[in-house]
Amino acid sequence: MKHEISNLPVVYILATGGTIAGRAASPVQTGGYRAGELGVEDLTAAIPGLNQIAQIRSEQICNVASPAITIDIWLQLARRINEILHRQPEVAGVVITHGTDSLEETAYFLNLVVKSNKPVVVVGSMRPATSISPDGPMNLVNAIHVAAAPEARGKGVLVVMNDEIFAARDVSKTHVSQLHTFRSYDLGALGNISNGVVSFYRQPLRCHTASTEFSVEGLPTLPRVDIVYSYLGADGALVDAAVAAGARGIVLAGMGQGGTTRSQGEALARAGQQGVFVVRASRTGTGRILPPRPEWIERGAAITADNLIPQKARILLMLALTKTNNPQEIQRMFNSY
Ligand code: SIN
Repeated sequence: MKHEISNLPVVYILATGGTIAGRAASPVQTGGYRAGELGVEDLTAAIPGLNQIAQIRSEQICNVASPAITIDIWLQLARRINEILHRQPEVAGVVITHGTDSLEETAYFLNLVVKSNKPVVVVGSMRPATSISPDGPMNLVNAIHVAAAPEARGKGVLVVMNDEIFAARDVSKTHVSQLHTFRSYDLGALGNISNGVVSFYRQPLRCHTASTEFSVEGLPTLPRVDIVYSYLGADGALVDAAVAAGARGIVLAGMGQGGTTRSQGEALARAGQQGVFVVRASRTGTGRILPPRPEWIERGAAITADNLIPQKARILLMLALTKTNNPQEIQRMFNSY
């Protein structure tokens, strides 16, 4: 729907649900509410004076709590963003409203498949829209400012929460309930928004958006990749189950530098012999796992995830497997994206 009355920047909002569209039984309730209840029109109506900030176009993609976001929704969302940014040149940027639980995964997926240098900003909230002091409306205003900002171009997909701007690759949700839950631990925020002023202090250097080799065009789905957690006493049952379920790849959320127990390691080696690609990431949440030497990969050593957390390593492995079955090539992708 269009609400255009001026020559302010045009920003397109694609809504997917989440707590930012959540409804609670009481205005003081911050848990046990229903996410994905209000429509995009309700979200924009909650912002007085929005039509003095930007010309808003909006569309509802789905209305779900973010654990219910599927690969089909990802593909639909990515195609719609690419279509809007290519067919509507007057659009300055796109804002995606999303639940925070899986927000970092959708943001990183889009960071790898959106084919535009224009800003794409993913935003959510920690308190439901019906709360007495919801964070959603101000987060959404900030996201619209960033999507409209020329300085936000060419920086990949961005996440805006709690007045801060983060790179999709590096950010994750770190606390179950606090408003400052989104952090990029080792690398920090890219910038912030203060009183409507967007300020950047750094930019991502890893390959993203228009410069990646990945495309969602004609892709029916993504190959199955599972994550297996390592812990003391872990045996090979979950690895074997992933292989039996048809996984083409397994990401190990390993201890420290990607370590695992002997029997889980043996199961991973068995999976590798059956043609399943194994990527080692760390359950620590921060830090870089050193890449194996090329000759080690030839001998079947696992590909390593650099400093991607397991849920983001899974996304890169799924996309990598749409392009190649060569482990050296996949390691190159993990060193580049
Ligand atoms: C969700 O991810 O949809 C629920 C939690 C949230 O949005 O904060």
